[in-house]
Amino acid sequence: MYKIAVIPGDGTGPEVVNEGLKVLAAAGEKFGFKYETKTFDFSGQRYLKTGKLVEESDIAELKEYNAIYLGAVGNPDVKPGILETGVLLKLRFALDQYINLRPVKLYDERFTPIKDKKPRDIDFVVVRENSEGLYKGMGEFQNKGTKDEVAIQISYNTRKGVERCLRYAFEYCRARNRRKKLTLCGKTNVLTYAWDLWERTFNEVAKEYPDITTDYAHVDATTMWFVKNPEWFDVIVTDNMFGDIITDLGAMIQGGMGIAAGGNINPQGVSMFEPIGGSAPKYTGKNVINPLAAICAVGMLLENLGEREAGKCVENAVIEIVSTKMKSLAAGKMGYSTSEVGDLVIENLK
Ligand code: IPM
Ligand code: MN
Repeated sequence: MYKIAVIPGDGTGPEVVNEGLKVLAAAGEKFGFKYETKTFDFSGQRYLKTGKLVEESDIAELKEYNAIYLGAVGNPDVKPGILETGVLLKLRFALDQYINLRPVKLYDERFTPIKDKKPRDIDFVVVRENSEGLYKGMGEFQNKGTKDEVAIQISYNTRKGVERCLRYAFEYCRARNRRKKLTLCGKTNVLTYAWDLWERTFNEVAKEYPDITTDYAHVDATTMWFVKNPEWFDVIVTDNMFGDIITDLGAMIQGGMGIAAGGNINPQGVSMFEPIGGSAPKYTGKNVINPLAAICAVGMLLENLGEREAGKCVENAVIEIVSTKMKSLAAGKMGYSTSEVGDLVIENLK
């Protein structure tokens, strides 16, 4: 019996989570696994009402779960930064979900904006470090509010933090067993402390993986290759900030935010799966948002629980729908409502 914590969150989060849970139930029936869910109401709405974010007692409770399923957190009425730090980053950090795994996979060539690229050309995974770097929140103001103000924002990289991320990426690349190529995406030519550590550690760990071909690309060049030659990539490993940026571009070349899912992974603890697109407030309650990213997140969650066959089956059902039914992957243009898309996936799953 799996225990799954569900955080529907804000905006369209609850709508897409609802479809994801329908698919989870169908997969449970088909593959014979049992689970129970509990809903946690962390959200901008709750914050506005009660001032509450994620607390230590919440973290302690969540540690008892096998996985967390998150819709989206974000509310235009809350000042930027509060929910991000108080909910999403709080969960990632407190649960030490040190990997952010973001597959970039094109399911149907109609949906990439890149001319002449086929599904076989856009199929890679970004392993984003998820616990350090610029996200650590270290820094200070000096002479705040004066003409001589200085704002310092530190990128914090520990050998242990970098190494565990790199090891995960090498292992993931080996297990994925596609092209067995791991690209380090950094900025060794300018950020000479952080990327020196990353590069040295990468080269050292690489010695233990003679079966993996290694490569390096600067982050600016990486964005160029995503558009020009995405087929060069298999697995990419990078830091928190660069990973954040390149995976939005990754989402666009795979068909947009409607299809992009990710996992915040603690390989020894509780992991959290989410569509990466945000709360899309303007589409809230209209039954027009694309739930496929949230459904793909369910697929990743199942794989992470060890229900590999079920996870694969969810992904295959999504691929089928995307290539045979969907007119577009964008909200309001799919040719179906949010709940109809969920139903189509379930039909296909059966
Ligand atoms: C993401 C988001 C978050 C991030 C924000 C909402 C804090 O953009 O998951 O990529 O920067 O990591
Ligand atoms: Mn982001």
